[in-house]
Amino acid sequence: MSEIKQHPQWSSRFAFILAATGSAVGLGNIWKFPYITGENGGGAFVLVYLACIALIGLPVMIAEVMLGRRGRQNPMSSMQTLAQQEGRSSAWSLIGSVGIVTAFIILSFYSVIGGWALSYIVEGASSQFVNADTETVGNLFSNLLSSPLQLILWHSVFMLIVVSIVGKGIKSGMEKSINLLMPLLFILLLILVGYAWAQGEFSQGVSFLFAPDFSKLTTEGVLAAMGHAFFTLSIGMGVMMAYGSYLPDSVSIAKTAMTISILDTLVALLAGLAIFPLVFANGLEPSAGPGLIFQTLPLAFGQMSGGVLFATLFFALLSIAAITSGISVLEPVVELMEEKLSIQRQLGAWISGGLIWFLGLATVFSFNAWSSWYPLDFIPWFQEKTPFDIFDFLVTNLLMPLGGLAIVIFAGWKMNQAKLQQELELGTLWPAFYSGLRYITPVGILIVFIYNLL
Ligand code: PFF
Ligand code: NA
Repeated sequence: MSEIKQHPQWSSRFAFILAATGSAVGLGNIWKFPYITGENGGGAFVLVYLACIALIGLPVMIAEVMLGRRGRQNPMSSMQTLAQQEGRSSAWSLIGSVGIVTAFIILSFYSVIGGWALSYIVEGASSQFVNADTETVGNLFSNLLSSPLQLILWHSVFMLIVVSIVGKGIKSGMEKSINLLMPLLFILLLILVGYAWAQGEFSQGVSFLFAPDFSKLTTEGVLAAMGHAFFTLSIGMGVMMAYGSYLPDSVSIAKTAMTISILDTLVALLAGLAIFPLVFANGLEPSAGPGLIFQTLPLAFGQMSGGVLFATLFFALLSIAAITSGISVLEPVVELMEEKLSIQRQLGAWISGGLIWFLGLATVFSFNAWSSWYPLDFIPWFQEKTPFDIFDFLVTNLLMPLGGLAIVIFAGWKMNQAKLQQELELGTLWPAFYSGLRYITPVGILIVFIYNLL
C-alpha cells in the first residue's frame, strides 16, 4: 500500500458549488456559446445543446464527481484505486492520464482568449468604445489579433495569474474569489440583456436563439453541440473528478451537479440574449466566429450611459470567470505532480504553466502568421482548420466526450451497483437515473460519434 497524505477537503457544500461553478462558468458561456450558436444556425443547435446538457452532461458530471470523491486522489490515481477495488483493469486510469493531455491543450488556447478579455478591460477603461461604430470596433479587434506581441503579452498575464493562484493551493485561492464576483457577473449580464431588449432587435434575437429551424442543423453541428456540453460543464477530463476528490462525504452530489448545470446554462442563455439582438440591430453576421462578442458588446457599451464603467467591469468579470476556469484546468495537473511525482505544488504549477504557455503560442499565431496554415488538411475532420481550430476540435469534440463515455461506462457497468446507489442517495429517482446512466448517456454519445464518422 502506498502512503496517502491526508487529502484536504472543501469547507462546505457551498464552497464546492462555488468552485465547481467557477470552473464551469467562463469563456465557454459568454464567448464560445454565442459564436458557435451563430455558426450553427441558432435555435435547432441550442435545442440539441440543451438536450445534451440534460441527458449526457448532467449524468457524466454526477458520475465524475462521485468517482473523484470515492478515489480521493488525483484523477489518475483515483481511477487506479477504484479499478483495483472493483477488480477491473488498471487501464481505467487512462481517463486520468488522457485528461492531463486534454488539460494542457485546453488551457493553452483558453489562456490566449482569456488574454483577449484582459486586454478589453484596458480598452474599455480608456474609453475606446465610446460612440464607436461597427467599423471602429471591428478594427480594434482585428488590430489586437494581428499583433502577436500583444496577444503574447496578455496570454502571459493570464497564465501568470492562474499559475500563482494554483501554486498557493485552491482553498486559499478559489473560495473567496468566486463568492462575490459570480453574482456580479450575473447582474451585469442582466443589464446587457436589458439594453439589448430596449435598443436591439430583441425579438429577432430571441427567435434566432429559440425557434428551431432543423434544416440548418448539420451532423457536425450536433457533434459541436455535444462537445460544447462537455466543454461548458468542464467534464470528461478529470477536472470535476479532481474537485470531487476534495468533497466531504455528507454532500449530495446529484443536487450539487444539478445546481451547477442550471447556473451554467442560465449564464450561456443570458449571454446569447444579450448578444444576438445587438448582432441583428447592427447588421452583423451571427456566424462571425470567435470575435463575435468582442465585436458586438463594445457597441452596446459605447452607446449606453455609464458605458465606460460597465465595459470595464464586464470585461474584468469575464476575465475573472475565465481565470477561475483556468485554475480548475491546471489543478488536476498539479495535484498529479504533487501526489505521483512528489513535486511541490508551487514548482509543479510553474513547470506545467510554463509548458502550457509555450503551447499557447500556436494559438497566438493561428490568428495572424498562421491564419491560413491548415497543418492537418489531409484528415477530413481537420480540414481548413488552423492549429487553434484543431486544438479546440480535438479536445472539445473528441477527447472530452470520449472521457465522458469512459466515465459513465465505468460508473454504470464496472462498479458495484450497491456502492454507487449508496454514494448517490437518489431515493426514488435511483432506477431512472441508473438506467439513464447505463443506456441513454453512453448510447447518446456513441450515436453522435458514429453519425459523424459516416
Ligand atoms: N467550462 C469552462 C467554460 O465554459 O468556460 C471551460 C473549461 C474549464 C473547460 C475547465 C474544461 C475544463 F476542464
Ligand atoms: Na461553461
